[in-house]
Amino acid sequence: MSAVPVTGSSPVRVREVVWTDFDELREIYYHLYEERDRGDPIGITLYSEERPSLADEVLWFAGGYRKVLMGEAVWSVAERDGHAVGSCEIHRLGATATSEQAHVGVLGILVHADHRGTGVGSALLRHALTAAREKFEVVRLSVFSVNEGARRLYERFGFRPSGHGPRAVKRGGTYFDEEEMILLFDDGAAAPANH
Ligand SMILES: CC(C)(COP(=O)(O)OP(=O)(O)OC[C@H]1O[C@@H](n2cnc3c(N)ncnc32)[C@H](O)[C@@H]1OP(=O)(O)O)[C@@H](O)C(=O)NCCC(=O)NCCS
Repeated sequence: MSAVPVTGSSPVRVREVVWTDFDELREIYYHLYEERDRGDPIGITLYSEERPSLADEVLWFAGGYRKVLMGEAVWSVAERDGHAVGSCEIHRLGATATSEQAHVGVLGILVHADHRGTGVGSALLRHALTAAREKFEVVRLSVFSVNEGARRLYERFGFRPSGHGPRAVKRGGTYFDEEEMILLFDDGAAAPANH
């Protein structure tokens, strides 16, 4: 089992990522592979069939953290009882600050299975989208079509469907469609919901 304790009711605190989050965020990601192996539906794309090596995870974390330091991303971490239980990262789509896609952010979010459905994802979205509003005009994400709970959650925060990707993911011979969703900060309906 991971370093993340199984608790349900303690308050959630959301803050910016720090360098020492690496181990607990890696554990949360690794736990997805346990979920897949026991046959749970996982509405998120896995990096590879086997769980990524520690070396790959270091590269992933360092790359993301570097983007935060360079002002190219926002990365929010939710804590419960002093342990990371989820994170939400929004990074710039364009390769440079003057790119024609520099105004677009791409969102990824993951909450540890033991803490889902308890408000962590909502708290993360509120925090990350508030910070992203200062950097981006548009936020995009992709979500498994079958992940209806997640789609409802994003809609509550102002995301709207923007496209359908048939057979976007192939996992062990099974295809999954994806929905593209988009949040326009200036369309008058984009303020993070207060719930
Ligand atoms: C999607 C996710 C980030 C939402 O975070 P969360 O902490 O469960 O969200 P909250 O508790 O704030 O909100 C719960 C809402 O999300 C929905 N939800 C989505 N997946 C859920 C899950 N596995 N367990 C419980 N609720 C889930 C609930 O239906 C609920 O919506 P409702 O109030 O309309 O019923 C989280 O469930 C998760 O990490 N899932 C696995 C990975 C994933 O699907 N990531 C999204 C890829 S785009």
